[in-house]
Amino acid sequence: MNIKNYIEKHQQRFIDELVELLKIPSISADPNFKKELLMTADAVKINLEAAGCDKVEICETPGHPIVYGEKIIDESLPTVLVYGHYDVQPPDPLELWNSPPFDPVIEKTEIHPEGAIFARGACDDKGQMYMHVKALEIMIQNDQLPCNVKFMIEGEEEVGSVSLEWFLEHNQEKLANDVILISDTGMISKEVPSITTGLRGLSYVEVEVESPNRDLHSGLYGGAVANPINILSKMIASLHNDNNHITIPGFYDKVEVLSELEREKMAEAPFDLEDYKNHIGITDVHGEKGYSTNERNSIRPTLDVNGIWGGYIGEGAKTVIPSKAFAKISMRLVPNQDWREITDLFKTHFESIAPKSVKVKVKPHHGGQGYVTPIDSIEYKAADLAFHDVFGKAAVPQRSGGSIPIVSLFEKYLQSKTVLMGFGLNSDAIHSPNEHFGIWNYLKGIETIPYFYKHFTKLYLETNH
Ligand code: BES
Ligand code: MN
Ligand code: MN
Repeated sequence: MNIKNYIEKHQQRFIDELVELLKIPSISADPNFKKELLMTADAVKINLEAAGCDKVEICETPGHPIVYGEKIIDESLPTVLVYGHYDVQPPDPLELWNSPPFDPVIEKTEIHPEGAIFARGACDDKGQMYMHVKALEIMIQNDQLPCNVKFMIEGEEEVGSVSLEWFLEHNQEKLANDVILISDTGMISKEVPSITTGLRGLSYVEVEVESPNRDLHSGLYGGAVANPINILSKMIASLHNDNNHITIPGFYDKVEVLSELEREKMAEAPFDLEDYKNHIGITDVHGEKGYSTNERNSIRPTLDVNGIWGGYIGEGAKTVIPSKAFAKISMRLVPNQDWREITDLFKTHFESIAPKSVKVKVKPHHGGQGYVTPIDSIEYKAADLAFHDVFGKAAVPQRSGGSIPIVSLFEKYLQSKTVLMGFGLNSDAIHSPNEHFGIWNYLKGIETIPYFYKHFTKLYLETNH
């Protein structure tokens, strides 16, 4: 294949096109950006058409639209469905960005001496999604598209893919495929290509603790009335024991237990604890007793406070016992844990540990199931061979700690398996200020994807389809 030459010739344009896409602030969580989401969907549509899709449509949903496109070359050949998302996380806190989040700049970093594009969505997921659009262009321009392709690019991933579930349920025939291909995860390092074989599930809740019906003078009432912030802090602290084990009864009942062999295999993945600590500026790691850092952030469930507020947080001091305190709590779940069941367990437990002096409310937000992919499937082999062709070595299977809840629903509605070929690095700062995506990673992704199509089609046809 002459993929490398094509990329070399067109790489500046590939970068420029991505930069244009990154300029549109498609922040799905903020209702003020509805127009920008529509603009981004339009831009994705135009780019899919330019790359060679025959039929591209913007599918209206109750939320942000889904862009669907396809290139069907022969009904008897397999079909790859590419999934990605064009929405991004809010860029806050803005003051911590070195350049404006929607005004992309290319800067060199230690890990990215070839330069990296700094912008919200550069890696998650506009950059990684766009690799697939360019890979399609390459295959079509070089007469090397070996199978059918469908694209489904949504605009609500960062807010729970609510409309996408509805879309899957009502478009099962249109979306029929033989494998789903996603680049929305990461790789271990530039030297160590990896295939993500697991994603964690999620249960996200908001809690409210109420004590007096109004804010009180902390001298007149202090000591005699429950302070909701004190109480909430104590309740939250009690959710872990001294071994950093979660104390909610039943929480671990269904947790998948990995064999010693599997844990040994996991431990073979290259990992440097000192590097890990230095990158994020921590003095020591922290987590569940009996598990390594890599296990804690992939095969074990968690409970974390994502935000906590209440009372006076302005300048200076105000003496007050607030009426209410709040927190947002996420629980990352592992295979077999049911997110609805865990949400119920949390609610029951949290309400039961509240003292009589306060009122507690637990409001579930969203959630999703975890996912593990088989590693003996033809799609896994195809991805592995593709990495081999481009990186000269096999890919390392890696369970990720992140969540893409829609992946388990692909299996439910479309009976499809998913391959997660990620090209981002943990240091790319997704969801954080100064998110970026290495030019090298972007171009390597574009180069690797066509090999996946080639190997998948070959293996598919060989295995008596
Ligand atoms: N692309 C990420 C998930 C991810 C990143 C998985 C890196 C593995 C490695 C995705 O956009 C994301 O941020 N998902 C959310 C969940 C969603 C329901 C808001 C997450 O994991 O917090
Ligand atoms: Mn993503
Ligand atoms: Mn994300």
